[in-house]
Amino acid sequence: MDDPIGSEDWLPVEALLDRLLLGEHCSPDAALVAALADSESAGLPPIEVSPQVARLLYLLTAISGARRILEIGTLGGYSTICLARGVGADGRVVTLESRQRHAAVAAANLARAGVADRVKIVVGEALDTLPGLTGAFDLIFIDADKENNSAYLRHAIRLGRRGTVIVVDNVVRAGRVVVPAEDDQQARGVRDMLEMLSGQECLEAAALQTVGAKGWDGLLIARIR
Ligand code: SAH
Ligand code: DHB
Ligand code: MG
Repeated sequence: MDDPIGSEDWLPVEALLDRLLLGEHCSPDAALVAALADSESAGLPPIEVSPQVARLLYLLTAISGARRILEIGTLGGYSTICLARGVGADGRVVTLESRQRHAAVAAANLARAGVADRVKIVVGEALDTLPGLTGAFDLIFIDADKENNSAYLRHAIRLGRRGTVIVVDNVVRAGRVVVPAEDDQQARGVRDMLEMLSGQECLEAAALQTVGAKGWDGLLIARIR
């Protein structure tokens, strides 16, 4: 299945929504713009969530009243800034990142955004650092290596409580999740996680397909019953 990015009909729509909902006149966001610029000049891959998904993460955090958040996959801290804003000044975010270089860029971006004091960046392979964490987290955002998504979801259940919100990025992968190719470990990881989630009576979930500048992908939102 091809990513129909070539049709591009949604690009002007996304530009309109970004301008009207995220534009300077409604929420000046120099810190996010600077975080993206510095991530790019540091050579980080441009795989952060879109500006609309970033705003959605902030809203989910604020709407749910989350105080303690876990993020798996920091990159340059773009999504982390939004989660940290959502929890407010006395909330806490723990974010896991395997690459020291990404963590260093994130630390600078978080400091400039004025939220460094409420964020702890834990450097290391998430599968190594997750067992050392104790819950309960109110919201958990899974956005790292897709191969380990099932393991991350199991940890999220362990580290959550009744009512915890679990958000998983990249659950569509340009449609490759439907029939993952033999060698497509990322799509297989996503599909395995979805199959596992489907058998979890403790979770209720919905997933939305997304299109835009980031191509065709999707976001899953679950809640621990
Ligand atoms: N959440 C970020 C994007 C994360 S990209 C945002 O939207 O702004 C995925 C990140 O996960 C990358 O920085 C990558 O280095 C990190 N990562 C990949 N495998 C990992 C692992 N096994 N443990 C921890 N982090 C990992
Ligand atoms: C990739 C990872 C992401 O988290 C994302 O949002 C997009 C792409 C990737 O590893 O290719
Ligand atoms: Mg992602």
